[in-house]
Amino acid sequence: MEVKPLITQDQIEERLAEIGEQITADYAGKEVLLVGVLRGAFMVMADLARHVNLPCEFDFMAVSSYGASTQTSGVVRILKDLDEEIEGRHVLIVEDIIDSGLTLNYLIKSLKVRNPASLEIAALLLKEGIQRVPIDVKYVAFPIGPEFVVGYGLDYAGKYRNLPYVGVMGEES
Ligand code: IMP
Ligand code: MG
Repeated sequence: MEVKPLITQDQIEERLAEIGEQITADYAGKEVLLVGVLRGAFMVMADLARHVNLPCEFDFMAVSSYGASTQTSGVVRILKDLDEEIEGRHVLIVEDIIDSGLTLNYLIKSLKVRNPASLEIAALLLKEGIQRVPIDVKYVAFPIGPEFVVGYGLDYAGKYRNLPYVGVMGEES
């Protein structure tokens, strides 16, 4: 299957530098726990963190909301919970993409009850206007349309995560 570039490697690098600076300023004087949502967020987590000039710790959660299809099922399973306690800590969730918002909605609910000092979201991509639940995303690198995208951590049936850019799946040729 063909992948048409949508957001280039340079554009991603530039935006993550900007957002990293913003995070650095917003959390000045604080320590941050960056929580990556596996598997898709591994790449944005690594690249964004390089631009966050603060004392940081890292943790990861793994959730599953999709099977091998491109349609959301609305079912969220926690496959791996945090290793860290988050009570009283500044938690910044790093996500690859927000589509229906159901995954993050569920994650946020399950993290809020653990009483973090603050809980915010940084997402590489936000599919605009199609969230099925209201979600307050503090940092968005790129708002995009409803199309299914791959690359830079995002997969289709497990593949394409290693592309250094974000692209749109084309028609079978
Ligand atoms: P949501 O629960 O519908 O917001 O979906 C969130 C998760 O679905 C993301 O963290 C991705 O893992 C996956 N996902 C949603 N849209 C796409 C896409 O366009 N390409 C690849 N994965 C996607
Ligand atoms: Mg994901």
